[in-house]
Amino acid sequence: MNNKLYSSLCTFFTYCFSLQLHYYFFMSLIVSGTNFTTRDKHALVALKSSITQDPHHFLTHNWSTNFSVCNWFGVTCDHRHGRVRTLNLGDMGLSGTIPSHLGNLSFLIELNLGGNTFHHNLPQELVHLRRLKSLNLSYNEFSGNVPQWIGALSSLQHLNLKNNRFGGVIPKSISNLTVLETLEIGHNLIEGSIPYEVGRMSQLRILSMSVNHLSGPLFFAWNQFVL
Ligand SMILES: *[C@@H]1O[C@H](CO)[C@@H](O)[C@H](O)[C@H]1NC(C)=O
Ligand SMILES: *[C@@H]1O[C@H](CO)[C@@H](O)[C@H](O)[C@H]1NC(C)=O
Ligand SMILES: *[C@@H]1O[C@H](CO)[C@@H](O)[C@H](O)[C@H]1NC(C)=O
Ligand SMILES: *[C@@H]1O[C@H](CO)[C@@H](O)[C@H](O)[C@H]1NC(C)=O
Ligand SMILES: *[C@@H]1O[C@H](CO)[C@@H](O)[C@H](O)[C@H]1NC(C)=O
Repeated sequence: MNNKLYSSLCTFFTYCFSLQLHYYFFMSLIVSGTNFTTRDKHALVALKSSITQDPHHFLTHNWSTNFSVCNWFGVTCDHRHGRVRTLNLGDMGLSGTIPSHLGNLSFLIELNLGGNTFHHNLPQELVHLRRLKSLNLSYNEFSGNVPQWIGALSSLQHLNLKNNRFGGVIPKSISNLTVLETLEIGHNLIEGSIPYEVGRMSQLRILSMSVNHLSGPLFFAWNQFVL
């Protein structure tokens, strides 16, 4: 084979190879993009089907699979990726449970289900909501222990579990929430002593724990608490 032919064959194959790489790259982008928005839709459809009462028909008509979830009531999306960023279903008279699918909303930064009658335990899969900054589950009928995995939601700034039927102890892992500013767990069935670590959470500004079965001292480090 002469050099000229050899080099043009090489160029040809390199070109094809690079085209193929580009093809796989773009296909994987498209596939993964669709997968994630579909995953978000599945998660919200699962939530809708675990809601047993919707007295004002907020979701019955509005949460139609014919439309993008970004147009659904209470949902906002990230403009760049079309992923669900906030879910706000506060004070809608809803009753039901949280399905494990909700843990698939990996872009979620705010979840507000406050002021409804959601019940049962929180699914462990919520541990995957690593971007979550605000979790408001207050004024519902949630039960089960305050989950140990809550300490893995390391972006949490506001955690409100007030007025539910949560039991167990305050998990020590809570001290892992280094950017937590608000911790409201009052009016539950939480027992045991307040972990020493709570007094050392440097960003904490609002701490409300009244009406539980807590005992023992609260160690203050450098915070001013509203108790
Ligand atoms: C659902 O509600 C939102 C906000 O009120 C509205 O913008 C949207 O058009 C509604 N979608 C349907 C299908 O009714
Ligand atoms: C959704 O689309 C289907 C088929 O295109 C249609 O039959 C149905 O009425 C639509 N539902 C709503 C709520 O628009
Ligand atoms: C989402 O989460 C559920 C339960 O955690 C799981 O069964 C499901 O396969 C996940 N993925 C999709 C694409 O819905
Ligand atoms: C949390 O939910 C409760 C009950 O709906 C509401 O009163 C409160 O304002 C909410 N807090 C935040 C920070 O959204
Ligand atoms: C504490 O947070 C880190 C990430 O910041 C996480 O890897 C670790 O699992 C968390 N620990 C607990 C006990 O949740």
